[in-house]
Amino acid sequence: MKKLLFIFFISISIFSQKKSFEQRADSVLALMTLEEKVGQLVQYSGGWATGVETGKPTEGSDELIRKGKVGSFLNVVSSKLTGKMQKIAAEESRLKIPLIFGLDVIHGYVSTFPVPLAEASSWNPSLVEKSARMQALEASSAGIHWTFNPMVDIARDPRWGRIMEGSGEDPYLGSQMAAARVRGYQGNDLSANNTILACVKHYAGYGGAEGGRDYNTVDLSERNFRDFYLPPYKAGVEAGAGSLMASFNEIGGVPSSASKFLMTQILRNEWKTDAFVVSDWNSIGELIPHGVAKDLKEAAKLGIESTVDMDMEANAYYSHLANLVREGKIDIKLVDAAVRRVLIAKFKLGLFDDPFKYCNEEREQKTIKSKEIVDATKEVALESIVLLKNEKNLLPLDKKLKSIAVVGYLAKSISDPLGGWSALGDSNDVVSIFDGIKNKIGKDVKINYAKGCKITGNDKSGFNEAINVAKLSDVIIAVVGETRNMSGEASSRATLDLPGVQEDLLKELYKIGKPIVVILMNGRPLTIPWLQENIPAIVEAWYPGISAGSVVADILFGDVNPSGKLTVTFPRYVGQIPIYYNHKNTGRPHDPKNHYTSYYMDLDNTPLYPFGFGLSYTTFEYSNLTLDKKEIKKNESLKVFVDVKNTGTREGKEVVQLYIRDLVGSVTRPVKELKDFKKISLKPGETKHVEFTITPDKLKFYDINMDYVLESGDFQVFVGTNSVDVKETSFQIVE
Ligand code: GLC
Repeated sequence: MKKLLFIFFISISIFSQKKSFEQRADSVLALMTLEEKVGQLVQYSGGWATGVETGKPTEGSDELIRKGKVGSFLNVVSSKLTGKMQKIAAEESRLKIPLIFGLDVIHGYVSTFPVPLAEASSWNPSLVEKSARMQALEASSAGIHWTFNPMVDIARDPRWGRIMEGSGEDPYLGSQMAAARVRGYQGNDLSANNTILACVKHYAGYGGAEGGRDYNTVDLSERNFRDFYLPPYKAGVEAGAGSLMASFNEIGGVPSSASKFLMTQILRNEWKTDAFVVSDWNSIGELIPHGVAKDLKEAAKLGIESTVDMDMEANAYYSHLANLVREGKIDIKLVDAAVRRVLIAKFKLGLFDDPFKYCNEEREQKTIKSKEIVDATKEVALESIVLLKNEKNLLPLDKKLKSIAVVGYLAKSISDPLGGWSALGDSNDVVSIFDGIKNKIGKDVKINYAKGCKITGNDKSGFNEAINVAKLSDVIIAVVGETRNMSGEASSRATLDLPGVQEDLLKELYKIGKPIVVILMNGRPLTIPWLQENIPAIVEAWYPGISAGSVVADILFGDVNPSGKLTVTFPRYVGQIPIYYNHKNTGRPHDPKNHYTSYYMDLDNTPLYPFGFGLSYTTFEYSNLTLDKKEIKKNESLKVFVDVKNTGTREGKEVVQLYIRDLVGSVTRPVKELKDFKKISLKPGETKHVEFTITPDKLKFYDINMDYVLESGDFQVFVGTNSVDVKETSFQIVE
């Protein structure tokens, strides 16, 4: 008994000494002047980070730090530079409040992983979490406290270049990936020096841009927004993300950076998070062109009133917040609440305890491009590649071929595999697809190369050389797609065809009549119906990161069996957009026998490749789809069982997907909704008994009254290898 009492008293005393982050933030807040409070809400860029020693702070930044007039920098990298600036804050400013350094580490710091859309195509949240963990190890070793990721914007329009940065069109898969990345970046202990603060962005609805044109208007019904676009942001916040980033777009007529609906009602009142919100680059300043603020002072007022806490590069808070308080135009409580959230994040990161904990040049040298991290780039990329077509099992190729023609500008590119937003990714670290193939097949096989054509323009003068090398070879491997700057921010395209004359080149190569494999390197779905019709083997490689060459070679020659699945629908033609799997049925779903139904006169309604699609070098058979009950009450769960057999000749991974359909609701419901998935590995001939649980939460939606509820009625269950090829059964929910 005595021992128990002793432990009890010890734990009480530790607790009372260990103030909460909130209490510690309040104690600092109480000491701050108005100018110092405003300073914590100001973020500047330290010059574009293109290398360890660049990213010099902007002119006069040392003085701003010394006076406590800036609380954060982005695009300042390396222990050395961040340490130099942190030293001024922690030793020369009046209150010694540490700076927080942020950077867009969205798929790697120096060691570049596949772009996020590729990573999501692995359908492997634990692998995606590992990728974020590795990114955090590297970035934190270089003085970075905070990444502006995960980008969780749902995107149904591949004209939008930023689809590359996210996880695709589905709210459930997007939520799983959002939470995985937050866990990976923040780890189990945010105060450790190898974890970094996550930032769920772009809050909210940015991917709904009309026409897929970046920064364009977003106008969604609240129901559509809450059912399809909002879940991944919520998943990121529920996973503990310490920050969010306000998006550029307006939604429902109000720009996010002035939206009390988003920032106060949803974020603070419904989700009750103390995560702070940083604006996007000058998004507060853009309230003026949006037409909701007449000047920067009014923009600052709208921003702080909507609880956008930190102003990235608009100079709005820096220039006007203190005066707005002095003039009584905003309540100091709004500023205090914002500063408190920022200080809490800095306390959680441990920056007050040791402002220099991320500044260790020796650790930085040892960590950057460590074997563990570089190996992980390959591990992730191998599961991100999607096999779109493999007629007559042309793939995998035989390593004993006599000669191979490798064609295409992208085959030898060492910068494009990095993709967009690659932070300090270095093209010198990239293994090109050509080199990957050359290293794989060894010196006995003749490898012939021709560029064929550039990515853009209509110059076909290189075609003949490509045709000649193809004629000399047993098989043709053509690498086509987009350059890395054709997706990402401000990179929308009005067409989704292969750019330039690449498809014409493929048509010329096709005429030769040799086996031809196409490798796609791109950041968005492409409209490639001719390829699907004529090319026997098509591999979606996305931008695979630094391990591009070895990864593609492993897949092409069968050392690894591809297991990726699409997380975005590929349209046949851009005119089909928006086209996504979880669409509504309408009152006149297409019926080929009835003219007066919903279809195009000149095109089939179906996509080129559906959501969830991806092939393997083996085959899988689904059988025995059963439920443990055919009827449940609203508060009960349901188990779903299915057998999956590897009916092929080699081991493979399969993503077993579970969809539901709510047949009748108080509002219209999608024809399918992904509610779970499991990635399993099967040896040839092996069968696994896969089990899912459908809980009440998986069946809720916003009903006719905008209440988030579960309704009784008939439901269909679909399980399969993608969103179209499924086994089906049904159940009922009774009152
Ligand atoms: C950009 C992007 C955002 C990024 C920020 C900082 O404009 O919209 O995703 O995190 O600025 O680089």
